[in-house]
Amino acid sequence: MSHDFHYTMSRRGFLVAAAGAAMSASLRPARAAAVDERRIRAAPGQARFGGPDGPSTAVWAYDGTIPGPVLRLRQGQPVRITVENGLDEDTTVHWHGIRLPNAMDGVPGLTQPPIKPGENFVYEFAPPDAGTFWYHPHANSLVQLGHGLAGLLTVEEAEPVAVDRDLLWLLQDWRLAADGQIAAGFGSMMDASMSGRVGNAVTINGASLADQPVRAGERVRLRLANASLARIMALRFEGHRPVIVAIDGQPCDPHEPEDGRLVLAPAMRIDIVLDLQGDPGSRHQVIDDYYDGLAYRLTTLAYDNAPPLRAHPFDAPLRLPANPLPVPDLTRAVRQEIVLQGGMMGGGKLAGVGGMMGMGMPGMNGGAAWAINGMSMTGDGMAGMPPLFTLRRGATCHLTMRNETAWWHPMHIHGFSLSVLSRNGSPVPNRTWQDTVLMAPKDTVECAFVADNPGDWMLHCHVVDHQMAGLMTVFRVT
Ligand code: C2O
Ligand code: CU
Ligand code: CU
Repeated sequence: MSHDFHYTMSRRGFLVAAAGAAMSASLRPARAAAVDERRIRAAPGQARFGGPDGPSTAVWAYDGTIPGPVLRLRQGQPVRITVENGLDEDTTVHWHGIRLPNAMDGVPGLTQPPIKPGENFVYEFAPPDAGTFWYHPHANSLVQLGHGLAGLLTVEEAEPVAVDRDLLWLLQDWRLAADGQIAAGFGSMMDASMSGRVGNAVTINGASLADQPVRAGERVRLRLANASLARIMALRFEGHRPVIVAIDGQPCDPHEPEDGRLVLAPAMRIDIVLDLQGDPGSRHQVIDDYYDGLAYRLTTLAYDNAPPLRAHPFDAPLRLPANPLPVPDLTRAVRQEIVLQGGMMGGGKLAGVGGMMGMGMPGMNGGAAWAINGMSMTGDGMAGMPPLFTLRRGATCHLTMRNETAWWHPMHIHGFSLSVLSRNGSPVPNRTWQDTVLMAPKDTVECAFVADNPGDWMLHCHVVDHQMAGLMTVFRVT
């Protein structure tokens, strides 16, 4: 099968944005749309990763399910989500990737008081962008996310997208002890100063190794989201050619991944279009081979025996409609630079589960293993540190991120989406907007965004052990 792609590299970033700006006025409903009411409850529960007959694992879950319920919202429509705290400790919910009012961002001590056990908090916003997002706690994040609190949130396009099925895979990584329970030892300094808490079991929608049934000839939109604490994934779909149509919820030029692998760092989402052109009855593995020498089968695409859904495959790639992102004006941008520092010397991308001791001393002091521009903000963001920088509302920020460490960091910005301009001096193709940018050791990435949303916003590594141990900062928009 062959695809015909026509990239327009020379117009990177700006056409999408321009179309989006024109759209934003029409997005505002003429009369107040009815508010969509939702409710989710965080509480202890049980999960069976191996299926209904497998052993059960004590988890923390939204509405008792791993992952939490998929919240399907409509673009521009106001939603009111009541979060109930059925845990024995404070929590909050962060709506990862959604551009919303600061007070709804879910960072305890910064944007709201924590939700105490037995109490509720009501989140209200109208998601401006259609796409694939997710939600998770922003309190005691390592332990709460590590016990399973995560769910997908999709914002539906105004017009349905032309695919046969919309599939969602929420990927979670677990560190399980021999008894099948979640292993203790959250926040060890070894994890924190190296790769983070990489686990030993990966689930798709709460199930490990279950087949994914497909039909020959169908075109699916597959939304992938990595809700791991620390595991970076690189997925290969054997015998298939996935086409990336959105990253972190934001449409991009449809393109095949460079080496055929979809690199999905913690917190990232990738939407692909998958034309299922295997034979009826055939089976094809999906492999994660990110960690050298540790490739494993994530799942299997299992074709049923039905005849192909259509005689001829689609020949055109699918392009998602642009979102109303504000257009960065690089001619008058304010420049900011953040430098990532710290961690064990040496680095490498092998997981830190044993075997990597003695490579040098991390630059630790008082629970901090990392720093941004020489400062270590630890925890979930509640420490009362002054913002690293302040932007005037409406200004374009040209943000350079430099990774001086020997480790990989998915850097995540709250409240905004970053137009990714260049990596190590080379322009980034495909008009990519991301809220989570994976930085390889020694990488320099340049991006831009319009500071159109006032408030104090987090910027942190989404390897949660790194975040908790200092790879986090706050900036302000006034
Ligand atoms: Cu998904 Cu501050 O994070
Ligand atoms: Cu976020
Ligand atoms: Cu990191």
